[in-house]
Amino acid sequence: QLKACLFDLDGVVVDTAQFHYAAWKSLANQLGFDLTPEQNEQLKGVSRMESLDIILEIGNVKLDEGTKQRMAAEKNQHYLELCQQMTPEDVLPGVRDFMDQLVAASIKIGLGSASKNARLILAHINMLDRFATIVDGTRITKGKPDPETFLLGAQDLGVEPTDCVVFEDAVAGIQAAKNGGMVAVGVGDPAVLAGSNLVITGFEDLSLATIQYLFE
Ligand code: G6P
Ligand code: MG
Repeated sequence: QLKACLFDLDGVVVDTAQFHYAAWKSLANQLGFDLTPEQNEQLKGVSRMESLDIILEIGNVKLDEGTKQRMAAEKNQHYLELCQQMTPEDVLPGVRDFMDQLVAASIKIGLGSASKNARLILAHINMLDRFATIVDGTRITKGKPDPETFLLGAQDLGVEPTDCVVFEDAVAGIQAAKNGGMVAVGVGDPAVLAGSNLVITGFEDLSLATIQYLFE
């Protein structure tokens, strides 16, 4: 029985995924190689330092720990600059309406993100108070595809994992939800998000009944 919805942030609630990609791509370019959209899919849902490791592997570049820390900090600074232009208007279409349906049906709402910037981003889009719990990159020890992020969210909300739906745009995030025993709804391309219980292109016109049907 559906009792809670756990939302990923980047690429689900707001399109910050494009800013993460732009910032990583320019870092790769600085290092002398490119980062394709396909390669970028591997970075979604993955922590900052793990993302950097994946990128360095793609470019076959080896750096010492100090340089890696500096590059990750630079990427984050660039990312946050890009995020400056964001306003509440940038919440992805249909997200607020869908959450209104959840509130009306007394279904709890939580956030499960690998980002250490999650609260900052939520403040930009004026959605901090929309979530009964926020699990972000500052709280977790094991990133997606480990289920910790979402299990913590379920625990905070006082619901069983099997009574939760997770909305995710990342392959690692869908795996995390499945590993936690939750229903996984992919937001994006069905070809990329294989393994989801359902894939939607967005929240526009998504009715709660469609999600509840996954529990029958
Ligand atoms: C999300 C994004 C990833 C990002 C990660 C860490 O999961 O999908 O692309 O690397 O958060 O974000 P942060 O803001 O802490 O660098
Ligand atoms: Mg995401």
